[in-house]
Amino acid sequence: MKALVLAGGRGTRLRPLTHTSAKQLVPVANKPVLFYGLEAIRDAGITQVGVIVGDTGPEIRQAVGDGSAFGLDVTYIPQEAPLGLAHCVLIAREFLADEPFVMYLGDNFLVDGIRDLVDAFREAEHDAQILLTKVEEPQFYGVAELGPDGEILRLEEKPEHPRSDLAIVGVYTFSPAIHEAVRAIRPSARGELEITDAITWLIANGGRVHSHLVSGYWRDTGRLQDMLECNRIVLEAIEPDIRGIVDGPCEITGRVVIAPGASVENSVIRGPVVIGAHARINGSYIGPYTSIGEGCVVEGAEVEYSIVLGDSTIRGVSGLTYSLIGRNVEVVRAEGVPNANQLMVGDHSRIQVMS
Ligand code: TTP
Repeated sequence: MKALVLAGGRGTRLRPLTHTSAKQLVPVANKPVLFYGLEAIRDAGITQVGVIVGDTGPEIRQAVGDGSAFGLDVTYIPQEAPLGLAHCVLIAREFLADEPFVMYLGDNFLVDGIRDLVDAFREAEHDAQILLTKVEEPQFYGVAELGPDGEILRLEEKPEHPRSDLAIVGVYTFSPAIHEAVRAIRPSARGELEITDAITWLIANGGRVHSHLVSGYWRDTGRLQDMLECNRIVLEAIEPDIRGIVDGPCEITGRVVIAPGASVENSVIRGPVVIGAHARINGSYIGPYTSIGEGCVVEGAEVEYSIVLGDSTIRGVSGLTYSLIGRNVEVVRAEGVPNANQLMVGDHSRIQVMS
């Protein structure tokens, strides 16, 4: 069995971060979300992995390399444009050959891994297995409508008027029968080759398609709130590990990881929190569910429930919460101008300030 990991796409919902970076590399507890997926694939006993890459290919290649760091053998498959999930299967034909495979969306996150579902697929004689889970806003997902006996009646991609609250989780397993399906379908109204259409084609043409309701934690990290929520879930289970320097009067409570080379001085850290290597925290409060990336500087500031990517500076700013801050960003107090906010912000950014 092989795996196909989708790490291209546009990532419009995470702009401006995705103007410069791959969304699959946004960190959850200081580790790129894509890495959790690669580890889950390895833990399911799969080693041959094809990774679909788009414009951000060089960055993905740099981060994942030949896969050996994960115990995987990675082949990169460039996609000329994000032409849809089924298009990814189409262009991976040669890599996939005639083996069954698991297709994993590189920005998806499953706490329980994928071993059980891969094992179930290996034992069964299905042509496709999809996972479903109840969600609150199904219009943002692929949605399945099931019949009285659990059979799939209809699959729709991001429907305006969803017929159920069952979203399709971004991990699918397929037999080689899917190749005929992706060749048979045409692009949808939004111009993409939809995997939902390919699966619908399979059902209509006598394919055995199985759906399975999952209860474990799953998130598509395409949006800010999902990123922060994933970060919270992972941090909740993190093992405390303090390797950096803690100096001066500090209060460190709960699950806190301080990476080697990081320093914390005169600060309050209330876990769960991770602080990356070579970060410097001084005279600050870091509250629950926060990940501070490598090389960040936080001085005289208060941050909680946030993800801060590497090499950013936060100085003299209080009440920073529910935020996703990119790389090399400066968030500092405006000096000499009382009650003023001074901004230099990239395209498609979103800033919420105190009124
Ligand atoms: P999506 O989140 O559906 O699409 P997107 O990345 O374009 O994001 P947005 O809606 O914010 O613009 O994609 C799911 C995953 O599949 C994601 O990791 C990107 C990847 N993908 C590809 O590799 N190629 C594609 O053609 C598409 C559509 C997605």
